[in-house]
Amino acid sequence: MPINTNSSSITRIPYFIYGGDYNPDQWSPEIWLEDARLMREAGVNLVSLGIFSWSKLEPRPDEYDFDWLDRLMDLLHEHGVSVNLATPTAAPPAWLVHRHPEILPVTAEGTTLWHGARRHYCPHSPAYHERARKIATKLAERYATHPALAMWHVDNEYGCHIGECFCDISAAAFREWLKTRYGSLEKLNHAWGAAFWSQLYSDWEEIHPPRKAPTFANPAQQLDWRRFSSDSWLACFEEQKTILRALTPDIPVTTNFMSFHKPIDYWKFAAREDLVSNDSYPDTSDPEWMVHSGMACDLMRSLGNRRPWVLMEQAAAQVNWRQRNATKRPGVMRLGSYQAIGRGADGIMFFQWRASRAGAEKHHSGMIPHRGTDSRTWREVKALGNELPKLDSLLASQVPAQVAILMDWENWWALELDSKPSNDLKLLSQIYSYYKPLFERNITVDFAHPASNLSSYKLVLVPNLYLVDDPSAASINRYVENGGNLVMSFFSGIVDENEQIRLGGYPAPFREMLGLVVEEIVPYQEMQTNTIRTSDGKQFPCSFWSDVIRLENAQALGTCEQDYYAGSAAITRNRFGRGTAFYVGTALDPGGMDWLLQQVCETAGVQPISPKVPAGVELLQRSDGSSSWLFVLNHSAEKVTVPFGGHGLDLLTGRQVDETLELEPAGVAVIQLGSAG
Ligand code: GLA
Repeated sequence: MPINTNSSSITRIPYFIYGGDYNPDQWSPEIWLEDARLMREAGVNLVSLGIFSWSKLEPRPDEYDFDWLDRLMDLLHEHGVSVNLATPTAAPPAWLVHRHPEILPVTAEGTTLWHGARRHYCPHSPAYHERARKIATKLAERYATHPALAMWHVDNEYGCHIGECFCDISAAAFREWLKTRYGSLEKLNHAWGAAFWSQLYSDWEEIHPPRKAPTFANPAQQLDWRRFSSDSWLACFEEQKTILRALTPDIPVTTNFMSFHKPIDYWKFAAREDLVSNDSYPDTSDPEWMVHSGMACDLMRSLGNRRPWVLMEQAAAQVNWRQRNATKRPGVMRLGSYQAIGRGADGIMFFQWRASRAGAEKHHSGMIPHRGTDSRTWREVKALGNELPKLDSLLASQVPAQVAILMDWENWWALELDSKPSNDLKLLSQIYSYYKPLFERNITVDFAHPASNLSSYKLVLVPNLYLVDDPSAASINRYVENGGNLVMSFFSGIVDENEQIRLGGYPAPFREMLGLVVEEIVPYQEMQTNTIRTSDGKQFPCSFWSDVIRLENAQALGTCEQDYYAGSAAITRNRFGRGTAFYVGTALDPGGMDWLLQQVCETAGVQPISPKVPAGVELLQRSDGSSSWLFVLNHSAEKVTVPFGGHGLDLLTGRQVDETLELEPAGVAVIQLGSAG
């Protein structure tokens, strides 16, 4: 897979990655050889090694024990397994905490979070950084030329468990960050609207993190705190990446993401990684699990600018951290794996190789369950690992998408700050309400940052872009003006980057583009609903929110039927420049959403991969310059016949398929289109 490094080096891993987290230090060395042998048997070619091994690698300060890791690196290499070597900095050893208790993180309420679990460190602690730099350097020096080393796995899931630390060291770091951002207190006071509630600052030392306060903390302060905290995790990553890059310039560096993870602005992170990798644990007892996991895959591909990414962790069967932990039914792990590949992944990995026998995760599944190899889980893991090499020809191919949904972490943070018209407005569920019907129509969606160049998309969806800065607003307007098609939903364009209202009538930066002004907003109570009648005579319910819209140039496509604003527009369309902008001033029910997407896809000329596929069938496509591959996934419990209107070679069965394809429940096909076999 081509890995687009930030330096000049390009690394190629010319095979589909298959493997998992490997924690051999939890086991006695007697089984290491068996592990290596079984890895071969299962087609494993990469393991993430040593993620939580700090106390084993450095049992006492500056006393290192690499012998065991040397043995494993050699053993794995001898068995054809490469290593994604981890810096073990997500779990500082007890001696470090004992010597420097100030590295422990502190909550907004002032509670210290103690050693005994993991991720118990403040990202600003100099003592932590010093030790993290040292262990990362030692590892890189020792294994720089080891032939097993294929990738670096920095830390583990930044921002997991604790997204922020509120200790005094963090407070001092926050002040420095603010000085860089604003330069003067005058500017900070202005940006924070600090005249409100007498919050003006006259000395930098007076500024603190938004710790637990009597009531709502200053929203701009909260927003900057989020930005600062996200930047701090990125600084931790960058610090280690710089060390690794210097010592191993050709080895790609990644850190594992957590799908839609609020504390960290993954756009910024992904730009600094050599490749994006993700951990994905959909709850497969949810009938819509594949929609959720599909959305996470699409985010990962988009974060990496459409480059192939790696599914770094998934469960072979069940996790241990939900209230009730559903196991994956037969075929479901395989379906999820092919979904990730169909959505751009060039590697499938698991947490973890062998299910632990001790510790907090001993009831989490592994590629080898406690039961051993005489188990369904192992058989499925082994079968998949032996099947994936059939896909080598599609490595590095891309996933075309005609539609983008705008996604911005700063907007996410701002939208969900306290004291809003409705505190139940959550970005992800709104995004999901647009994503799901597109998923069901087999229309592939990218995610895009609001300031990015959108011109390659036929259609752009903008759910609840509450916070928008000037460059992003200009970019969105430009996209439509130049012929783009766009759907924007309620409570967009409301504040600038400082969480200050954009005056001039909601949604001020988009009024002209949308051809309307929102005169009032009406958040609904829980059971409150309304109905919408469309210009073509349809009727469907809406809920949650109504904008009271005054049309300027726009045309009403649907109007509200009840309440004091009955007859006012709820869904509109406006020609702007060479493009079309739709606005939705409410939350539509699934029927309404379907109707809307029908209109906008028609206007934009967006077509599904194939028009008539049975319910529960997911279609995906990858292509490079010369070939295309169609992924067909049967999520339903029925055998299905899928018309795909072409012919090609199913790479998994080696059979030729023409016009239609039969798939068993949980069946998968990967068809090389046009291929005569
Ligand atoms: C995360 C972590 C792993 C493990 C799994 C369990 O993804 O990275 O170390 O805790 O969750 O699901």
